[in-house]
Amino acid sequence: MNDRKLRQALINLPDNAQESIVDNIFVPEFLSALGFKLMECVPAYGTGNGNEAVDYALRHNTDDDIFIQTKSNPYVLLELKGKDINLSEGSAQYHSTFKQLKGYLLASNCKTSQWGIMTNAVHLQLFRKHGKVIHPATPCLSITPDNLIKIVKDIKQKLDNLPRALTVAIYNNKGGVGKTTTTVNLAAALTLKEKKTLIVDFDPNQQDLTKSLAIKPGKETLYSWLEGKNKEVNDRDVIQSFISKNKTTNQSFQIDVIPADEHLANLGEDELRKTLKIFRLRQILDNLKSEYDYILIDSPPNWRFFSVSAIYASDVVLIPTKHNNIFSLENAAIAIKQYIPQVQQARKDGSPIALPIFFNGESITDAGRNTAHKEINSIIKEAQKDKFDLLPYFYPKYTRAKKDLHIFELPSYAHIANAAFSRVPAAYKDKTARNYYLELAKEYFLQ
Ligand SMILES: Nc1ncnc2c1ncn2[C@@H]1O[C@H](COP(=O)(O)OP(=O)(O)OP(=O)(O)O)[C@@H](O)[C@H]1O
Ligand SMILES: [Mg+2]
Repeated sequence: MNDRKLRQALINLPDNAQESIVDNIFVPEFLSALGFKLMECVPAYGTGNGNEAVDYALRHNTDDDIFIQTKSNPYVLLELKGKDINLSEGSAQYHSTFKQLKGYLLASNCKTSQWGIMTNAVHLQLFRKHGKVIHPATPCLSITPDNLIKIVKDIKQKLDNLPRALTVAIYNNKGGVGKTTTTVNLAAALTLKEKKTLIVDFDPNQQDLTKSLAIKPGKETLYSWLEGKNKEVNDRDVIQSFISKNKTTNQSFQIDVIPADEHLANLGEDELRKTLKIFRLRQILDNLKSEYDYILIDSPPNWRFFSVSAIYASDVVLIPTKHNNIFSLENAAIAIKQYIPQVQQARKDGSPIALPIFFNGESITDAGRNTAHKEINSIIKEAQKDKFDLLPYFYPKYTRAKKDLHIFELPSYAHIANAAFSRVPAAYKDKTARNYYLELAKEYFLQ
């Protein structure tokens, strides 16, 4: 019955219907199909950022908290447009609407929001918010009377099953840029903020992460888990824990680790792809998402089985670069323009997406920084020829009005490099290192 009404509402919309018409005819049926009752939808919700209001905020009521009365703790934000606005992916209005929705999701009254929807009743896209990160949960979908019911059901299913963890692949095709060091220390910083964190060593040829924490293999191997033949594999037989105890405060911090598996290093690329499949890591980690706040995957410096699997398994990709290494910057651009879109095509949910790059572990002089900016400008210009906009991935704060060329810098610091020898992450051992990685965690992840 409701399905019929929803479909009919879409059919009834005139061509070029303006926002108010889409709002009157389509939105009530759409919100109801998503499972929200009238008292659970607040129109023109004040985001807390000046006078800005998002078209709708939604949240299920509890016994003593009626959303339309308390207007507190929204769960979903909906930004609505008319059919006269072009929301097809890549259009200028798509980008500006996404920017608008992103601003709302991060605004002070909307901290609890976990999902954002933008639609004009022609296109529709769902985004998930986790801390500061906003990433697609569907591609930008074209809605028609024939696919509408299924699309809305799929979205409702996602809204009703919020995943706990954000999965982050740490990747750059260039070697030695600090992928493993970032994985270990970012994990440590997140645990200091009481985030339950799992790290995966998916670089079996080097196993640097496993070695840097002196983690021993578990009873079961990652290989048998990936192979999936032995259904009895228990998570706890593969996952090991690294525990750091602060002797002064007596507090202890734990990072869970899926250690590298030597057996994987001996297999050729063809054998890996045939017997283990690129999507297996994702299936395994999806099953662990409810147990962690963050899952970080360390990947090798190439574009073969392990890196492809790591990117395939991730919601977002964090790309360390070196400001003085042109290849690390060019390779970041290749990952963003080419590799990540390949995986998006295969995944069909719009993710993963790249987070803006950062400069890792070199002392940066003004002259060095200027040279890096020149290189980046030419990389951005080159990509524009292929109609790819790299600007937000290099300069996330750049706007036409405010030409902010901010790129996050994680300084070079001897204790960070030396910590691997003592088998304890620098972020646990050393205050300066701790602050560097807490800054990184705040810049990208923590709200
Ligand atoms: N911020 C930093 N300050 C000082 N040294 C650093 C920093 N980050 C990384 N390093 C050092 O740089 C070297 C390379 O780092 P790391 O092994 O993390 O890079 P990687 O990208 O994982 O390398 P690979 O591509 O070989 O896997 C290591 O010796 C590490 O200790
Ligand atoms: Mg490494």
